Amino acid sequence: MKTTISLSTPAELETESLVAIALNQADPAQIDKNKDAKPQIKLATADSAVQSVTADLFSSGEVTGKPFEINLLHKPAGVKAKRLLLISGGAAKKFTGYDLRRIAGTAVRTLKARGIRSLAFIAPPGIPAEEAVRAIVEGALVGNFDPDYYRSDRKDQKIDALTILTTGDKATLEKAANEAQVIGESQNFTRDLVNEPSNRMTPTILADRAKKMCQEVGLKCEVYGADKIKEMKMGAFWSVAQGSDEPPALIVMRYEPAGAPEKPVLGLVGKGITFDTGGISIKPADGMEKMKYDMAGGATMIGAMRAIALLKPKVKVIGIVCATENMPSGKAQKPGDVQIAMSGKSIEIINTDAEGRLVLADGLFYARQLGCTHLVDAATLTGAVVVALGYTNAGIFANEDAMYDRFRKANVEAGEKMWRLPLDDEYKENIKSTIADIVNSGGRWGGAINAAMFLKEFAEDTPWIHLDIAGTAWTEDQKPWIAKGPSGIALRSLVAFVKGFAS
Ligand code: BES
Ligand code: MN
Ligand code: ZN
Repeated sequence: MKTTISLSTPAELETESLVAIALNQADPAQIDKNKDAKPQIKLATADSAVQSVTADLFSSGEVTGKPFEINLLHKPAGVKAKRLLLISGGAAKKFTGYDLRRIAGTAVRTLKARGIRSLAFIAPPGIPAEEAVRAIVEGALVGNFDPDYYRSDRKDQKIDALTILTTGDKATLEKAANEAQVIGESQNFTRDLVNEPSNRMTPTILADRAKKMCQEVGLKCEVYGADKIKEMKMGAFWSVAQGSDEPPALIVMRYEPAGAPEKPVLGLVGKGITFDTGGISIKPADGMEKMKYDMAGGATMIGAMRAIALLKPKVKVIGIVCATENMPSGKAQKPGDVQIAMSGKSIEIINTDAEGRLVLADGLFYARQLGCTHLVDAATLTGAVVVALGYTNAGIFANEDAMYDRFRKANVEAGEKMWRLPLDDEYKENIKSTIADIVNSGGRWGGAINAAMFLKEFAEDTPWIHLDIAGTAWTEDQKPWIAKGPSGIALRSLVAFVKGFAS
């Protein structure tokens, strides 16, 4: 998708479709209280020609202003565009960059389904121009993705050209648009990887995709196999990999820009389970097909490294992905087995389905050995985080408030929904073992926290953030702004977090 910033008058622009946002000016409290209150719809643009096209429609009372409501006008009078797409954004007072991203995605999905290939989006004047440009570009790219790769009737409809109509310093806005483009494309690259089924996305294929990407953007990439994993004494990682005929892959991507200080070194560690059957503690058949997305954390780190390599912040970053299947077999580990992690800690395996924390234990420890001073991991780690936060928020865990504050700032800036969960010492009781240092499953209650407590044992005193994206890495139902399937959650927050160290 080609993106252009235009400072022209919206009415003067020739385009397949102009897109404008309709906002309800009524007080949001009144809208909630009085369901019959007449909406006061106004177009979010200063262009009087575009405003007058919609005057009759708005006065008719047909437009409610409810979020994502759509009206499409053809041959709008006094405007050079062939069409005018109106998308409602809800209450003007509540409208933020977060909503704008979704409206941009909705515009793309609405128009591309009609065979339209280009659009011009009027940036709403209520949001600072640079923020609006970023939100529109990122939202449009998210909307442009569809997962139906293997359908014979795949149309692969896409918007090819996006123009953003705005005001301000063109060079600044173009820079913002280019950065947003890199981020949106990297997010779609991650979604591409997550979308593939496990027979087409083995650990080896994931490593090959990472290598190819690294070559394209100028990153160093090393991939280690079973021998090296055993030689490095990654007993926790290997305990998961040993049951599978597919070879595991430890993917290490390095971004070391000239002129970056020796420290900090940021470590991004991802769970790359290309399929999670549960192992000997096998999962029920119902819904098991979804466990192809259990490598979403790893794919997020690969996509984030791509964005970082292209955006070039002056800070060192190492991306690590622990990729393997989790399979039952004659070679698979069994409940009760004791494994020694790379750090030397002994782990009693209670449930072979708690495999993500095992591969991450060695991934996090290895990152520290490579000199990482700050760690972030992302993983589809627990069903329990879905019980706690549903499909709306990802779980954030941190072993240090300063690290949390830093990450949270980036997270809010990126417009992704996440919520912090606690890591009190009391939970440590849940992962005590009688035979070894810790167990790999702390039981059902507080399951997302128990898993994070386990990881904390391997992050130790290195500032660390854990993101449990089990409920958010896959969009369960299609939405006006995003297709059903992989979401690419966390990538934008990670990139903003890394950039925060360079400024
Ligand atoms: N990959 C799963 C977690 C998961 C569940 C991801 C639902 C996406 C959607 C993870 O490996 C797992 O199986 N976790 C277990 C842990 C339990 C055995 C302690 C779980 O959550 O049930
Ligand atoms: Mn599992
Ligand atoms: Zn898993």
